[in-house]
Amino acid sequence: MAASASFAALDLLLLLSLCLIVISLKPMPTNGFAVDLIHRDSLRSPLYDASLSAPQRLRAAARRSHARAELLSRTLSPARAATAPSSDNDGSNNGSIESEVVANNFEYLMTIHVGSPPNKILAIADTGSDLIWTNCDPCQQCYQQDAPLFDPRSSSTYSDLTCGSSPCSQLPATECGGVDQQSSACKYVYTYGDGSHTVGNLASETLTFQTVGGRRVNFPNVSFGCSHESQGTFDRHSAGLVGLGGGPLSLVSQLGPAIQHKFSYCLIPSYAAAANSSANLTSRLSFGAGAVVDGRDAVSMPLVDGEVQTFYTVSLDGISVGGEDVDVQGGGSGDGNIIVDSGTTLTYLVPGVLRPLEAKLKRSIQLPIVKDPEGLFELCFDISNAASDFEFPEIALRFGAAAVVLSASNAFVRQEDGAACLAMATGSGLSILGNIAQQNFHIGYDLQERKLSFAKTDCATTSI
Ligand SMILES: *[C@@H]1O[C@H](CO)[C@@H](O)[C@H](O)[C@H]1NC(C)=O
Ligand SMILES: *[C@@H]1O[C@H](CO)[C@@H](O)[C@H](O)[C@H]1NC(C)=O
Ligand SMILES: *[C@@H]1O[C@H](CO)[C@@H](O)[C@H](O)[C@H]1NC(C)=O
Ligand SMILES: *[C@@H]1O[C@H](CO)[C@@H](O)[C@H](O)[C@H]1NC(C)=O
Repeated sequence: MAASASFAALDLLLLLSLCLIVISLKPMPTNGFAVDLIHRDSLRSPLYDASLSAPQRLRAAARRSHARAELLSRTLSPARAATAPSSDNDGSNNGSIESEVVANNFEYLMTIHVGSPPNKILAIADTGSDLIWTNCDPCQQCYQQDAPLFDPRSSSTYSDLTCGSSPCSQLPATECGGVDQQSSACKYVYTYGDGSHTVGNLASETLTFQTVGGRRVNFPNVSFGCSHESQGTFDRHSAGLVGLGGGPLSLVSQLGPAIQHKFSYCLIPSYAAAANSSANLTSRLSFGAGAVVDGRDAVSMPLVDGEVQTFYTVSLDGISVGGEDVDVQGGGSGDGNIIVDSGTTLTYLVPGVLRPLEAKLKRSIQLPIVKDPEGLFELCFDISNAASDFEFPEIALRFGAAAVVLSASNAFVRQEDGAACLAMATGSGLSILGNIAQQNFHIGYDLQERKLSFAKTDCATTSI
């Protein structure tokens, strides 16, 4: 009986693996796939520094976060200038906006395989930009990278795209000139907000992903930047970047119908003191069927048209603390728009929203207030003498009819000296929902229905 059962199980396994082989040969999976999303401070990252404690890593992340918030807001300021009443905007000066994205200021990495045969590349995963690019041989003026360069001449599926191709016209800046150049190679110039840049050929190539389940899925004809010049604040551990933004050249836009225009991620806590920082876990990035976020706990909100198509923007309509509404002031940027970005660690709110929230928190949390020595955090409480059953009040963010209820670990971070600080700051006027606030939610992006969904999930134990 037991033997026949295990034979049956074996048959099933055989059948399953046959199915997997068939699936892995199909270039366009309709059932979706998932890959590891590697936090830079996790055990699986080449940037992992075992000599630092979780709070020390967090402080470094907070510094990067402030810099990124600054750069993202600088990315928006040309758009703001362009839409200022005085500029008589007719939409003709929107060309340079998308190019000003943030370099090196990344938090997550992912592996992609470029070309045929597949060339493994560790790349920055960035929801704040669109272009997919990798350094290519020859790289005349490139930052030093650890991994070998991708050689397009050794790939049978590589081909340069021309100036007349539609992906070339979607780039913010090219060296393409008049109509006589339609058939010449599309040379792009992609400049980041901090002056970093990549210059190269826009090309068509096959991208392959090693899925969490161990199979490989590939997508032919993906437009990517084969960089022959890249300078600035890039990191030697990464050999390129995967843009996951909302613009036409991003991975999610390009895979489009093959992934039902959907992707999602589930971020495990990166700096929680309670978490075992040496646990060998990764977050998950899903495409297609696995990116559907539904169920009893799921809430959805529309994606609104932000100033920059790349950024995922939603409308924050209210905040409550322990069930009581915070009286936000109409000041600041006022429109309530907030960008959801996985590459920013902290959450940024305009002063008209953050200050009343802080006031409410101070009233409801009966703990001494302490100052952060470096000023990285704006509101900290001394928890060293707090009762063992002390709990922070719930902060709920309201997006239309949807309420996203943050856990204490989404809103507060522990410091080494017995302080707990609010993981929210004012920054430079741009509102950003950062990755600490997003941890332990399965967050789905539906680019066709133009909506975002959140479902509270234990990302370390649930396989999404
Ligand atoms: C500006 O954006 C509009 C709408 O997206 C587009 O039709 C127009 O061609 C763009 N202008 C430039 C110069 O890119
Ligand atoms: C490759 O993609 C481009 C645009 O993304 C499209 O115009 C072209 O027809 C595609 N080529 C093939 C062979 O599918
Ligand atoms: C943390 O995780 C590591 C690796 O999984 C394990 O060896 C260690 O015992 C864990 N420590 C604690 C305190 O759970
Ligand atoms: C972590 O997991 C990966 C993949 O499962 C494995 O290759 C690696 O050796 C593990 N590292 C440690 C330190 O356990």
